[in-house]
Amino acid sequence: MSEIKSVAVIGAGTMGNGIAQSCAMAGISVALVDTQEGFLQRGMDTVKTSLARFVKSQKLTQEASDAVFARIKAGTSLKDAVADVDMVIEVVPEIIDLKQKIFRQIDEAAKPGTIMATNTSQLSITAIASAVSRPEDVIGTHFFNPAVLMKLVEVICGIKTSERTLRMALELTRQLGKEAAVCKRDTVGFITTRAAVALRLECIRMYEEGVASIEDIDRAMRLGFNYPMGPLELNDFNGLDVGLNNALSLRDAYGERFAPPQSLTARVKAGMLGRKAGAGWYDYSGEKPKATK
Ligand SMILES: NC(=O)c1ccc[n+]([C@@H]2O[C@H](COP(=O)([O-])OP(=O)(O)OC[C@H]3O[C@@H](n4cnc5c(N)ncnc54)[C@H](O)[C@@H]3O)[C@@H](O)[C@H]2O)c1
Repeated sequence: MSEIKSVAVIGAGTMGNGIAQSCAMAGISVALVDTQEGFLQRGMDTVKTSLARFVKSQKLTQEASDAVFARIKAGTSLKDAVADVDMVIEVVPEIIDLKQKIFRQIDEAAKPGTIMATNTSQLSITAIASAVSRPEDVIGTHFFNPAVLMKLVEVICGIKTSERTLRMALELTRQLGKEAAVCKRDTVGFITTRAAVALRLECIRMYEEGVASIEDIDRAMRLGFNYPMGPLELNDFNGLDVGLNNALSLRDAYGERFAPPQSLTARVKAGMLGRKAGAGWYDYSGEKPKATK
């Protein structure tokens, strides 16, 4: 099977710059695209900082780090970036209309056979693929944050995704030194978001029922199951607004078992969105995070 030698990454934000760096570290040439020079600069600065950490911990030499950085070419033209690559990975915000618009642009500019992947966390791959003339080339490659360090790529097939496209997505995962979990049916929340939200909502319900404190629920899950973070700490890390949106789309798909508990909705209404807002399930204003009421 042919290797992936070049990719275009569309979107240089939290996930995009990490995916670009992962590809460049695997020797793949990367064209990184965003709408403004400033966004590209921020993405490239994040890559530079991350590479410096690899050098400091002696996981990369300075020379290798410079070569990785040089392998990423940043630019604002999607058309130029996707024209001659083996694979395009779309990493723009989780808005279906925006993703479909980007996929139409990729479809117009990319050569035949280019794999078109999306990093969506839960949107339907089939719906995104409906925007293009070659849905057999579209697939979900869901990376995790931080993309450079996290080993999993959840690979999701749309209804029309071809075997070749699946093989190429698995090949990319292999080249990056990551592991794939394949979601065979394109269903809302795939494997990871559906399972993680179910667990989190049950933890929130236990807190609301007075079964245990926020800290004890997180401690139980961390120490009892070897999770690096408890479900509520993790929700603070990823954003309560993101978690609420996930729950709402899962409720639309699977019914009331995914209904968001009121203590989650109330926190989002109050702007308590997690770490990025200074408070969520925990308050981060003091020396140590303290559970909120
Ligand atoms: N943040 C996470 O933890 C995480 C984890 C897994 C998956 N995801 C998914 O990854 C995707 C991106 O999330 P993110 O957190 O990186 O978002 P982000 O907001 O950090 O980055 C998105 C980037 O896309 C750029 N962009 C917007 N419109 C564009 C366009 N027309 N052309 C090119 N670039 C454009 C933005 O300027 C921004 O830099 C979403 O689908 C999200 O659900 C996020």
